[in-house]
Parts: sequence; structure tokens; C-alpha cells
Amino acid sequence: MEDLESENIRVIIRSYESILKERFNDEDFPTITSHEQLKVERTVDHCYSLFSERLKVDLEAPTLNRYMHEMYLKVSLSSLPTSLQSYDASRPWLCYWIVHSLQLLNQPLSPGDSSIVAQFLARCQSPEGGFGGGPGQIPHLASTYAAVNALCSLSTEEAFRVINRETLERFLWSVRRPDGSFAVHVGGEVDLRGVYCAAAVAKLTGTFSEALFDGSAYWIVRCQTYEGGFSSTPGSEAHGGYVFCGIAALLLLEKQHMCDLKALLRWLVNRQMRFEGGFQGRTNKLVDSCYSFWQGCSLALVHQILASEDPLTVNTDRWLFHQEALQEYILVCCQAPKGGLLDKPDKRPDAYHTCYSLSGLSLAQHPKTGSSIVVGERNELVLIHPVFNITQNAALLASRYFYNLSSAQS
Ligand code: FPP
Ligand code: ZN
Repeated sequence: MEDLESENIRVIIRSYESILKERFNDEDFPTITSHEQLKVERTVDHCYSLFSERLKVDLEAPTLNRYMHEMYLKVSLSSLPTSLQSYDASRPWLCYWIVHSLQLLNQPLSPGDSSIVAQFLARCQSPEGGFGGGPGQIPHLASTYAAVNALCSLSTEEAFRVINRETLERFLWSVRRPDGSFAVHVGGEVDLRGVYCAAAVAKLTGTFSEALFDGSAYWIVRCQTYEGGFSSTPGSEAHGGYVFCGIAALLLLEKQHMCDLKALLRWLVNRQMRFEGGFQGRTNKLVDSCYSFWQGCSLALVHQILASEDPLTVNTDRWLFHQEALQEYILVCCQAPKGGLLDKPDKRPDAYHTCYSLSGLSLAQHPKTGSSIVVGERNELVLIHPVFNITQNAALLASRYFYNLSSAQS
């Protein structure tokens, strides 16, 4: 990674020759996992070697194929292939992934389409409060988080007005458990997603109260494992998705110091893959573009905590991961030619990976201070709010709207 150079216009990424020596070495002791790793590296290597040839004639590469991604997202909003029938219980998620991705590309939906999405999400809202995976489905914390994020990303008065804060608060209380953890639905499983989704929607919509989250931080830190990351529930395996939920929820509760930040940082910095440049989700597993957000953003959150404690010593000009290598993985290996982004080469694009690759890309481009955009402004994405993962502007508008609403009601 020593070949990193930077210029005003172009941020030069790692040279092909320099990354070859970062390839995995199984030390002549092949296992199923080492075999899988080498297989992925071969497909990634193919992308990087083609790209190094391309660079000889195209000094502007790699390019974010904005237009293709925009088209892919807009088509996905109205029709999905039958292979995605299983998403029937995740329709607010599809709305969120698509609306947020379009915001990141600075190509928001038209007022007409925004209104259609807001009206659809209104039909997913349950009379008991919160949102279900589709019209008539039981309310679930994950779909509630997705619906609230999608509505706040739309940032229209019509979208904000969909959220019934009174019933939402009742729903949040109905899934809270005495120890401060949250079930994802009444009688449903309890894990870190629950408490993060509850805290995020409560904060964003101004329905947060200390009482609702009494004991939650203690429950969250019980999920920090011997490795340093967070697992779904106490005693399981550390995983990037839950790491994000754990540290973001602690920040929302202003209890970030209750976890072992040093151990968390150590776990996180070891999740970026030396050759591929992207992140893995857990120890000894494969690179996947969605972890660009889950792991990259967790690193950004830990960095911000450390910087706020010691602003004179902690430098925030760069995040604590190799930002250009991550951008290179996303731009070179994860863009589908017909639009959309994928987990890793040879996979198909989908809205989830499009959303979280673009969110991670935006983050990698924008350290807290300064910027480092491969290959320059034309690939730049809109800034995200790292705790909610909607754009910073959307978070500001939503907070302002619900704050004013609370003031008017009191
Ligand atoms: C493992 O998949 C995936 C999980 C164990 C769940 C991941 C959790 C999230 C992505 C967080 C969800 C967050 C919210 C806000 C609802 P795998 O075994 O297929 O993947 P792996 O091999 O990369 O670990
Ligand atoms: Zn993934």
C-alpha cells in the first residue's frame, strides 16, 4: 500500500504490481476457507488486471457509472424480477435502499414519484404503530427503521406527515424488554438490530426518552465479544452488521464510553482485506461490498469518538482505513455493467449492495476533515450522516421538522 500518491486533481490508487504481493498465502495448508478466499482473489485479480490495462489508455478511470446506477435504481422501484419474491416482507427496505442511493447520486426522485413512495409507505404503517414489511403486515422494528429512513430521505412535508409519532412510540414500548433490549416485533427475536433501529427512529422523529432506553446501553455492551467486535446477542460471533448497530446505538444513547473502544478499533482495523481493498464481515470470511458501510462507518464512528475526546492529538484528515483501496474495490470490482452494485465480482447487482456500497463510497471519499476522492470530483457522492445512514441534509431537515412539531405541540 506504499504506492499511494495524491495530487490535487487525481487520487492515484494502488498500483497493480504493488497489490499482488498482498495476496493470501495458505502456507501450503489448504482448507475450505482458504480455497474460497483464493477463488475470490482470482476474480478480483481479473478485475484489477483488466483495470490496469485500461489505465494505460484512460487516465480518468475508474468512473462511477452514475447514469447506469440511476436507471437501475429507478427501474427497481417499480418492478422487481420474480427471483426477488422473498423481498415481499422487506418492501420499506427496498424503498429506503433505492431512495437513499438516488440521494447519494444527487438524483432525487421527482415530486410525483416521491409522493407515490410516501403513500405506499403510509399503507405499510400499522394501526398499532410502526411499519410492517408491506401493507397489512405486522409492525417490525427493521421495517420501521427502513420506512422512517426512506420517508426522511424523501424530505417532503407529505413524507414527514406519514409518520404517526404517537402510535410509533406505543409500538416502541411494546417491543421493549425489561433489560433494555428490544424484540424486532412483538414476540420476535431479540438482537442488536432491535435496539439500534428503535434508538434511530426515536431520535430522528423526536420520540426518544431516557425511560424507553433505560438499561439498553448495559445490554448492548454485553454483546461486545472477546474479539472486540459486537455480536447479535451476548455470547455470539462478532459481525460487522452488529458492530455498526452496537456502536451507533451507544452513540445515540450517549453511552459510547461504556464499551471497550480500543478492542473494537483493533477488531475493525483488521477487517479490511489487503488485496481486495474492501472489507470482510467477520474474521476469516470473504470480502463483500456491503461491509464498506457496516465496517467503514463503524471505523468512522470510533474515530469521531476518539477525536472528540482528544481533538488536539487525533488527526481526522484520514479515516483509520485505506480509503482509496476501498473506493478502488467498489469502483473497479463491484459495478455491474448494466447498473447497480454487487457484493463481489461474479455476483448479481441488488438494491441492498447498491445502497451500502454507495454509502461506504461516500464515507471513504469524505473523512471528517478534507477529502480523498478517487479519481476526483466527478465520482463524488453526497455526504451521509454516519449514525442514521441518510444524507446529512435529510437528517438535518427531518430533525428540524420533528423538533418544530414537538415545540408546537407542547
Ligand atoms: C451474515 O451473513 C449476516 C448477518 C449475520 C447479519 C448482518 C447484520 C446486518 C447486515 C445488520 C443489519 C442492520 C440493521 C440496521 C437492520 P453471511 O454469513 O451470509 O455473510 P458473511 O459471510 O459475510 O458473514
Ligand atoms: Zn453483502
